[in-house]
Amino acid sequence: MVDVTFVTTNPGKFREARTILRPYGVRLRWARRTLPELQAEDLRDVARAKAAAVHGLRGYVLVEDSGLFVRSLQGFPGVYSAHFLKIWGFGPLLELLRRRPRAAVFRCVAVLRKGRSSRTFVGETAGTIARRPAGEHGFGYDPIFVPTGFHATFAELPPATKNGLSHRARAMVQVGEYLRGGPTVRAPAAGRSRSRSGRAAPPAASRGVMSRPA
Ligand code: IMP
Repeated sequence: MVDVTFVTTNPGKFREARTILRPYGVRLRWARRTLPELQAEDLRDVARAKAAAVHGLRGYVLVEDSGLFVRSLQGFPGVYSAHFLKIWGFGPLLELLRRRPRAAVFRCVAVLRKGRSSRTFVGETAGTIARRPAGEHGFGYDPIFVPTGFHATFAELPPATKNGLSHRARAMVQVGEYLRGGPTVRAPAAGRSRSRSGRAAPPAASRGVMSRPA
C-alpha cells in the first residue's frame, strides 16, 4: 500500500478519491485544511499553487482543483466555480442557459507532490447542464450536471457510476496508475489503448499531463 495525504476541506472529494484510488493500492488519508486559492485563468495554475502551499506533511501529498466550464458562456464559471456556486447557487446559471446551448465540461486537475517534485493529472467529463436540479447524491454542481450518454444528473446516478466516469475519476485513475508504476502519458486522440499494467487506458476525454519536477 502507498500512503497518500489528500489535502481538501471537501468530504465529498475525499470520499470519491479514496474509493477510486483504493484498487491501486493507495491508502488515502485526509488532511482537512484550507489552502489559498490563487485567482488564475487556468485550473492547473490554481492546483499547482495549492500544492506548493502545503507545508508540514511528509510523503505523497495530493491536492486537486475542479471547475465546470460551460461552452456557450466561454467557459464560465470555470475557475470561479466554487465562488459562483457559494454566492449565487444554481439560479443565475440556469437562467443564463435558458436560451443558450447547455454543453459543458467538468475538469479536475490533481497534483501529486512529494518533496520538491510534483506531477499534474487532468481529467475531463463532457455533459450538459440540466434544466433544473435533480438528485440527492454527491455535492456541488452534481444536481445540474448530466454526463454525456446519460439522462440523469451526477446527483441522480449511483455514486459508483459517477466514480466510473467523472472528471475526478479520470484524473485519479492516472494518479493510481502512476503510483503503481504504470504509464501516465497523454491519452491517444481517439479510442482506448492498453497500459503496461494491462488495464484499458482512460478515454481520450481524460488527458494526463505530466509536469516536470517542480
Ligand atoms: P473546487 O475544486 O473546490 O474549487 O471546486 C469548484 C466548484 O466545483 C465547487 O463549488 C465544488 O463544489 C464544485 N465541484 C468540484 N467537483 C465537483 C464534482 O465532482 N461534482 C460537482 N461539483 C463539483
